[in-house]
Amino acid sequence: MLEVRNLTKFFGGLAAVRDVSFEVRRGQIFGFIGPNGAGKTTLFNMIAGTYKPTSGQVLSCGRNITGYPSFRLVHEGIARTHQVVRPFRAMTVLDNVRVGAHFGRQGGDHKSAADRAMDALREVGLHHLTDSSAHVLSVGNQKKLEVARALATDPELLLCDEICGGLTRAETDAMLDLLRQIRDRGTTIMYVEHDVRAITAVCDRILVLNYGKKLSEGTPNEIQLDPAVIEAYLGAAPKGWNGKEVSEGTPEKVQNDPADIETYPGASAPRAKTGTDDE
Ligand SMILES: Nc1ncnc2c1ncn2[C@@H]1O[C@H](COP(=O)(O)OP(=O)(O)OP(=O)(O)O)[C@@H](O)[C@H]1O
Ligand SMILES: [Mg+2]
Repeated sequence: MLEVRNLTKFFGGLAAVRDVSFEVRRGQIFGFIGPNGAGKTTLFNMIAGTYKPTSGQVLSCGRNITGYPSFRLVHEGIARTHQVVRPFRAMTVLDNVRVGAHFGRQGGDHKSAADRAMDALREVGLHHLTDSSAHVLSVGNQKKLEVARALATDPELLLCDEICGGLTRAETDAMLDLLRQIRDRGTTIMYVEHDVRAITAVCDRILVLNYGKKLSEGTPNEIQLDPAVIEAYLGAAPKGWNGKEVSEGTPEKVQNDPADIETYPGASAPRAKTGTDDE
């Protein structure tokens, strides 16, 4: 339902996304992973109309929608969430989502927009907080609010950018169940996430970006076994690591334990983004 051909975005001399092509089929959850700065959000920004591509094309059901502004894409059935949540802070939870319903595909009067906003809030499980101010919500609930506002526009394609960032494992699992539920009732999903466990659990296909370029694409299994992906992103297990306990103690003791230093010399996981959005 969505085809991306040779999409490229330059910021000055920096190619944030370069020559990326892929096809998302209706009913899929299509994932994107890659290190910080790989170009995932920029890719979403081009598809959702926040940035115009430098070159390349975006086609929705065969129609060229390249460079359409966001409001027009929402009417085409494409909605997105933001990596760094963007609630209308002074407004209630219900009013935040009502904005999505009002400016979405169905539009309509205040009453029907409010009804659709309530449906979206029920779906994400925020219906008990309709009258709360958006800015007092927990991180997890602000992420759900992003999803609800996008859902209220009645999308056929939903772009979710790191909706599990900063969530606990239980909250992440609940969010993944929500994504499956949204997909099962007919909305196709494109999903960026750093958490490899989450993305491999929920996606039908995954595209790996590295320095703005497509490094690999395939099923979660294919991706996890691709040597290029392991080297660039997933990382091999530390030398000598066999899953057994090596050391235990205070942080200082563990850091100074020779056995620990030899087995686990400071391998680092990809950094989750907590700062400001780039848009
Ligand atoms: N508006 C902008 N102006 C200039 N450079 C930008 C802009 N937006 C993104 N970039 C740069 O483009 C590159 C890709 O950034 P992008 O935010 O798309 O990466 P990402 O894969 O989403 O990273 P993260 O995992 O940290 O969210 C980075 O080098 C970033 O600094
Ligand atoms: Mg990003």
